[in-house]
Amino acid sequence: MLYQGILLISLFFATVNCASFNPEEFCSLLTNGTRIKDPRACNAWITCIDGEAVSGTCEDNLFYDRNTFKCVNSSTIDCLSSNPCAALNGEIGFNANPYNCSTYYYCNKGSATPGYCDTDYTFDPGTKVCVRGYPCKTSNPESYCNILPDGVFIKDPNNCDGYKLCWKGNVLSRSCPAGYYYDAVKGDCDYPSNVNCQSTTVAPDLPASELCNQTGIFVSDRQSCNGFYYCRAATDGTTGIVLQHGVCSSGRFFNAANGGECVPRTDIVCNYNRCVGLASDKIELANESNDGCHGYTVCQDGVKIGNGTCPDNGYFDELKQLCTSSVVNFPACVLS
Ligand SMILES: *[C@@H]1O[C@H](CO)[C@@H](O)[C@H](O)[C@H]1NC(C)=O
Ligand SMILES: *[C@@H]1O[C@H](CO)[C@@H](O)[C@H](O)[C@H]1NC(C)=O
Ligand SMILES: *[C@@H]1O[C@H](CO)[C@@H](O)[C@H](O)[C@H]1NC(C)=O
Ligand SMILES: *[C@@H]1O[C@H](CO)[C@@H](O)[C@H](O)[C@H]1NC(C)=O
Ligand SMILES: *[C@@H]1O[C@H](CO)[C@@H](O)[C@H](O)[C@H]1NC(C)=O
Ligand SMILES: *[C@@H]1O[C@H](CO)[C@@H](O)[C@H](O)[C@H]1NC(C)=O
Repeated sequence: MLYQGILLISLFFATVNCASFNPEEFCSLLTNGTRIKDPRACNAWITCIDGEAVSGTCEDNLFYDRNTFKCVNSSTIDCLSSNPCAALNGEIGFNANPYNCSTYYYCNKGSATPGYCDTDYTFDPGTKVCVRGYPCKTSNPESYCNILPDGVFIKDPNNCDGYKLCWKGNVLSRSCPAGYYYDAVKGDCDYPSNVNCQSTTVAPDLPASELCNQTGIFVSDRQSCNGFYYCRAATDGTTGIVLQHGVCSSGRFFNAANGGECVPRTDIVCNYNRCVGLASDKIELANESNDGCHGYTVCQDGVKIGNGTCPDNGYFDELKQLCTSSVVNFPACVLS
């Protein structure tokens, strides 16, 4: 069964939960020159220049405003920061823990000491004390709406064709027209061959109930040779099916037989991009499908950049990466 896939899926789950702001990673999702608020501070911004995060800070007592790109009087900004003391601007005092209503921080010279409210009490940032039943809501300083200027697009890191934006306090999701990928650098949708995207999540083109006739099996993602969905039982008490995307390990393609497995790519006839997963740092040659094993595809960075046929009616041997007079009859390319 699908060993590699299960491993990959659990790895994916494990990394999703520990979100924390990484300026370089964030900048890789934005167009050149975008300026954002640094969520780790109140008085700092970051400009993304050629994928690098270049930071800047406001003068004393001024906070950065993500929408006007200006430093303004700190008393005019309600700053939300992952640094609990940043909003106090160097003053001694208490501030809320944005992630947890029942804890708060005492800030002195920039150092934060946590404090804990009693059971049933939550911290009221107005009066700066724990109040029984105070209707506190946690907020996420890493939300796009605390970092991006309204209306600026950011590539969805989990989805090749997706992008997001903040608009009036809400994070909105958008996707490119079918068949196009979102290019972070251009800030626009483009042909997938022009966009460098290795995604672990691919939006399905059919609902789970159409793709999966039962839970616990793997099905093709119907968009790539090595991508699949695991049909997982919903955990919310319903009888629904949840799709979890995965990709076969290098050199393997997905085969739907027997509940789904990843098999050597030469065994699989697949008319999606056969260069997927090949040639990340050099040019590689791959079998053409259904051509009697005479043709090859030239791959670079996982996409086709050309094709050819072996001279003198020779056979192309993908494993050896050369044309040969010995007969090659891999299932991937024999005439069907
Ligand atoms: C990115 O922006 C910087 C500053 O505006 C500019 O100097 C640089 O040439 C830009 N890079 C590209 C690839 O356009
Ligand atoms: C900021 O605003 C406060 C209150 O409105 C005012 O007292 C203070 O002088 C202002 N600071 C600056 C630097 O303008
Ligand atoms: C908030 O912090 C308290 C004390 O550390 C902890 O017991 C509680 O589980 C936390 N709540 C959440 C939602 O993380
Ligand atoms: C689900 O579909 C596969 C192939 O499409 C088929 O082989 C299998 O028998 C079906 N299972 C059920 C429970 O219908
Ligand atoms: C290259 O691919 C194109 C389109 O798939 C095909 O028409 C052409 O015959 C191929 N050329 C060679 C040399 O195989
Ligand atoms: C090409 O076919 C050979 C023989 O089946 C196989 O071993 C090789 O992995 C194939 N290469 C690709 C890229 O499909």
